[in-house]
Amino acid sequence: MNIDELKSVAEAIVAKQKGILAADESNPTIKKRFDSIEVESTEENRRRYREILFTTDGIERYISGVILFDETLRQSSRDGTPFARLLSSRGIIPGIKVDKGAKALALYPGNKVTEGLDGLRDRLAEYKQLGAKFAKWRAVIEIDEHEVPSAYAIRANAHALARYAALCQEADIVPIVEPEVLMDGAHDIDRCEKVTSQMLEALFTELNAHGVLLEGTLLKPNMVIPGMKCPHQASAKQVAEASVRCLRRHVPAAIPGIVFLSGGQSAEDATDNLNAMNGMDVHHPWQLSFSYGRALQAPVLATWKGRESNVAEAQRAFFKRCQLNGLAREGIYSHKMENS
Ligand code: 13P
Repeated sequence: MNIDELKSVAEAIVAKQKGILAADESNPTIKKRFDSIEVESTEENRRRYREILFTTDGIERYISGVILFDETLRQSSRDGTPFARLLSSRGIIPGIKVDKGAKALALYPGNKVTEGLDGLRDRLAEYKQLGAKFAKWRAVIEIDEHEVPSAYAIRANAHALARYAALCQEADIVPIVEPEVLMDGAHDIDRCEKVTSQMLEALFTELNAHGVLLEGTLLKPNMVIPGMKCPHQASAKQVAEASVRCLRRHVPAAIPGIVFLSGGQSAEDATDNLNAMNGMDVHHPWQLSFSYGRALQAPVLATWKGRESNVAEAQRAFFKRCQLNGLAREGIYSHKMENS
């Protein structure tokens, strides 16, 4: 394990003003996104769409890393440059999603566990050859009105995340550990805080038990937020206070950065909530940044609609989202900027 390399990559990913573009949708997920704009999910359309994102002028000021899907890591731009090389040449670090998705956890109805550990050591070696410097593994924790998530599901997911993280570091790849407590459902913000706390507690117990170097690891959590169907929605200030309180209680200061997922929030809310956290009058022990999928891409998809004639405008929409989130990294975003 090359400690210096792991630390320096992790720190570069959470450099000031910068965050991650999550463009690692699996083929079934990108198909859902394309269906919403009536674009067929062919290999070439997926390649072209990712090319539009990766070749947008100026994004390297705000985007430090991009998470790719296996297929995308093997694809190239029109002029034949592999995407990993294209991104690296712009100063953007290529990363790779390595989990194989969340599946039903046997004997625990309603709970899921993420698969993908078998053969992971060999896959990581290949991804490293292809240019990936960091990786992502997503655990999915649902909340219902009764007994989901079970304590066992939390433990099983924490254990898998830690085994994945240790394998990554053995291969000199920075692991991003993503325990996502879903915002589907009608639960309130307090329930989200409680479940997120349990998940983070279990995760850091397992990371430490597996000997994972925290200084070379990034955490990608949900924000502490009410379920989408909860009648009491929270303000950005409430989300920021609950999220920061929960993270301070459960995330060691040795972690260089926390890169939130957007999880189904609107693009504007995801920016606003991150801004509120970075605008708080307290010093945070870690960088608070973003690793957004939908919150960076929704405006791009809606503008592009699969038409070449819309590419320039779609890239402008993408640059703007990157820039606004870059400003939210410093707590200096305001709603007025949305319309300028
Ligand atoms: P969203 O920001 O759309 O939640 O996606 C981030 C991600 O990488 C989920 O694994």
